[in-house]
Amino acid sequence: MSETSPKLRAELEGIPTYKPGKPAAAGGPVAYKLSSNENPYPPLPGVLETVTAAVSSFNRYPDMACTSLMNELSERFGVPLSHLATGTGSVGVAQQLIQATSGPGDEVIYAWRSFEAYPIITQISGATSVQVPLTAGDVHDLDAMAEAITERTRLIFVCNPNNPTGTVVKRAELERFLDRVPSDVLVVLDEAYREFIRDPEVPDGVELYRTRPNVCVLRTFSKAYGLAGLRVGFAIAHEPVAAALRKTAVPFGVSQIAQEAAIASLRAEDELLGRVGSLVCERNRVVEGLRAQGWTVPETQANFVWLRLGERTVDFAAACEQHGVVVRPFAGEGVRVTVGETEANDIFLKVAEGFRKEL
Ligand SMILES: Cc1ncc(COP(=O)(O)O)c(C=O)c1O
Repeated sequence: MSETSPKLRAELEGIPTYKPGKPAAAGGPVAYKLSSNENPYPPLPGVLETVTAAVSSFNRYPDMACTSLMNELSERFGVPLSHLATGTGSVGVAQQLIQATSGPGDEVIYAWRSFEAYPIITQISGATSVQVPLTAGDVHDLDAMAEAITERTRLIFVCNPNNPTGTVVKRAELERFLDRVPSDVLVVLDEAYREFIRDPEVPDGVELYRTRPNVCVLRTFSKAYGLAGLRVGFAIAHEPVAAALRKTAVPFGVSQIAQEAAIASLRAEDELLGRVGSLVCERNRVVEGLRAQGWTVPETQANFVWLRLGERTVDFAAACEQHGVVVRPFAGEGVRVTVGETEANDIFLKVAEGFRKEL
């Protein structure tokens, strides 16, 4: 047998591995997972029934064009079918967007810290990441991002609200930024947490896309709609971009179960958005609680909060785990804590209070 291993692309070397949020330990002291920005509510009974019925035909390939779901989305957002594309979660769609736009020698700009998949999917395609630090207030520095554009720039992510800080960019500043971006550079507004936004000054990306052919909006069923495990997300973009997304899609990537669950969720939107409303109340309670304890917490419009703990990050995460909640540490920077069940949020607040006293 030869000792040589198969030749792999050099770009794969050094790719940071995606760290999924740690699960809650089965049977152990840990009871709550606040590490993946998931929806803590179980599936709605109606959605569960739809999924259960769809299970009986998984010997068949799914509808590759996601026809019924696309029709539903087209109506829901008032956009033509040719402006829609689906994928295996919005992260799948984000990867398709990079494949469609960027290769070796090209640059992809995004804020940092932001969603940790951006550097991974950029490097896989052989393109170069240009990371623009967040401002001191943990917000996208859109002026610096505009200044980072070169003739090699192909795609810019604006994560709004930003993962992991929860911070947002507002209408006037985002429009000013979009006006500065050349029309042949794609701007991807990643709105995975859109439904949790309550600040009226944050623009709806779908409105911005309508008059801007270089803007693409990413949405997901994973967060507000509670379908993280079924993997379905979508993009709204003008025809050339949406068509490129269909070319770069993995054939049959979105299962029939996921498609039907997504449709059922859109039809149960009132109930699902009611749950989002409860999570937003919990979010506000958590933020107020932390501030009352003396923490500086950036304004969050997502279903998570960000605590900048620097060198104490890992210790804080360990203390949370000891008390039964798993959070998401970014060593040396801070922790991102998903707003979950009330009891879980209470435990987190209690740990934060104890930790604060020790600082
Ligand atoms: C900002 C952002 N975009 C996209 C995603 C991807 O979500 P999904 O692939 O489940 O749609 C996430 C998930 O955490 C996220 O935080």
